[in-house]
Amino acid sequence: MTTPARMTSTFDTMWAELEPIGRSADGGYHRFAWTAEDAALREWFAAEAARRGMSCVVDRAGNQWAWWGDPDADGPGVVTGSHLDSVPGGGAFDGPLGVVSAFAAVDLLREQGWTPSRPIGIAAFADEEGARFGVACTGSRLLTGALPVERALALTDADGVTLAEAVTRAGSDAASLGPDAEALRRVATFVELHVEQGRGLIHLDRPVGVASGIWPHGRWRVTLTGAANHAGTTPLDERRDPMLDLATLIQVARQAAAQHGALATVGKVEVTPNGVNAIPSQVRAWLDCRAREEAAVHAVVSELAGFTPTGESWTPPTVFDAALAARVAAAAGEPDAPAPLLDTGAGHDAGIFHAAGIPTAMLFVRNPTGISHAPAEFAERDDCLAGVRALAATLANLTSK
Ligand code: GLV
Ligand code: MN
Ligand code: MN
Repeated sequence: MTTPARMTSTFDTMWAELEPIGRSADGGYHRFAWTAEDAALREWFAAEAARRGMSCVVDRAGNQWAWWGDPDADGPGVVTGSHLDSVPGGGAFDGPLGVVSAFAAVDLLREQGWTPSRPIGIAAFADEEGARFGVACTGSRLLTGALPVERALALTDADGVTLAEAVTRAGSDAASLGPDAEALRRVATFVELHVEQGRGLIHLDRPVGVASGIWPHGRWRVTLTGAANHAGTTPLDERRDPMLDLATLIQVARQAAAQHGALATVGKVEVTPNGVNAIPSQVRAWLDCRAREEAAVHAVVSELAGFTPTGESWTPPTVFDAALAARVAAAAGEPDAPAPLLDTGAGHDAGIFHAAGIPTAMLFVRNPTGISHAPAEFAERDDCLAGVRALAATLANLTSK
């Protein structure tokens, strides 16, 4: 199938508009929830909705929704979209590709003269990465009630700013934050398109795939306490240095992950007071652990029991509905070759929707570097456009009479 020139140029324009927001000199993105960058991204989303004559609403959990059609009168609708926030130093594609492709797919359907049998919605979920407040998929978890609002409001960032304060500073009403049954009722089916965060599609030599499931994964915080003292005058045998405990924690996590067939990462630490010539009084470290099997994650974390890890977020395994995945694979693939199915160790709002009982599917777009959560994350433009066509075909299939 060819791609009309107008859809291609709106894809390029949208991509170019988003590109500078939150990008640092090394090409990494810093787009954290409820910041000035987040406000710019929200403004961009609302403008794209307005440009297409789509209504734009923000739900009680801070997620944005643009609607083609009226989901209250004619719904529930079929929703696509993803998130616009990033990890620290993240890539351009994780999240934004799904939102830009969603608008481009609506453009393509309209160019083709498609009349959907039910409304089509585009969503941008708040704080998917949890980069600022620690909990992944905050927007979709709040929306569905998976994250209690009292816990969400009390989450703090590295400067001690609570999520409630951040929301207020961003000009929104923290008091009305919470689950939103009305917004959820508008969703019959959710389809998230995402850049692949591995090399599965490279090996399969296909531009687009469909998710079969998401590995169980979670985050744990560990606090290691020492005794602050002078680096030049404290004999080694008189030190209580929590950095040594951190080194042990990292080694034990790595060995346990290898032994149990899991992945374990300590990617974030906070050192107090963080001086080059001072033995730290405290180190806080965050462990991310994932595996295809839930038991493997628990096995790794239990080997770290001596460090008393505190759970910060947990996502159980997601096994997407096989019939819906097959339908999406047929719609998104070639006439004689459905899109291939693959699972992922990366977390997504789609997993939260699935857990809330909403029929959910995911499309992946090939990433030639296989790298993600880093500036080298990439997708070729032709593959992005193949993703748009696959998404449009999926939306058409799900909104046919
Ligand atoms: C989000 O991308 C995650 O997998 O942590
Ligand atoms: Mn991510
Ligand atoms: Mn993502």
